Amino acid sequence: MEQLTLKTGRLELVPLGDRHLELEVLLDSDAEVMKYLGGKARSRAEVEVAHARRMGCAEGGLGFWVGFDDVGFVGWWLLRGPYGPDQPQVEGEAELGYRLLRDRWGRGYASEGSRELLRYGFDVVGLERIFAQTLVGNAGSRAVMASVGLSFVREFPSSEDFPGAELGEVEYEMTRETWRKAQA
Ligand SMILES: CC(C)(COP(=O)(O)OP(=O)(O)OC[C@H]1O[C@@H](n2cnc3c(N)ncnc32)[C@H](O)[C@@H]1OP(=O)(O)O)[C@@H](O)C(=O)NCCC(=O)NCCS
Repeated sequence: MEQLTLKTGRLELVPLGDRHLELEVLLDSDAEVMKYLGGKARSRAEVEVAHARRMGCAEGGLGFWVGFDDVGFVGWWLLRGPYGPDQPQVEGEAELGYRLLRDRWGRGYASEGSRELLRYGFDVVGLERIFAQTLVGNAGSRAVMASVGLSFVREFPSSEDFPGAELGEVEYEMTRETWRKAQA
């Protein structure tokens, strides 16, 4: 299926396209945004590589979405199939993620977009399980996971190599069954 454009009360979530590259450069060039995602700002060349990788994740209705409110760019969200060494390739599962411009933090946007991706993932794509992973020390990301109803599953050693990664990573999840019960 095709990746759809999604709407929430304040956000329009648009499937990532090549026209969004400059927004990704803006986001990833802020070292504070990247604190738990490599620990330093990314160069334009690095973002171009990341952009190509992100575009390559679009499959079966999943991928990356760029979020806008009535003022402009807010950040991006992802709902993608298992990816990388810490995510076993299991059919019917996807990872939830988000990265917002610093001046958009603290307004409920990460959780608003994430709730819509949970709805889309379970009700439209038909996923069985949605999980999210972050470094142990990323309190903000963990708080978003808990806030949208994901539960802690496990702690595991990180395959990353930058300050903070030595403390490990955590995984949270929501199953289709939990989602169904919450909607009932
Ligand atoms: C983490 C991040 C996505 C949070 O975005 P946000 O829009 O500020 O989050 P929300 O406003 O939706 O907050 C949701 C909940 O998390 C809490 N929260 C948000 N940031 C927090 C922080 N730094 N510390 C503790 N709690 C935090 C909020 O208080 C809220 O709690 P509530 O539902 O109980 O009221 C944002 O700070 C960000 O983009 N950080 C950099 C990129 C990043 O680390 N992404 C995650 C990588 S795994």
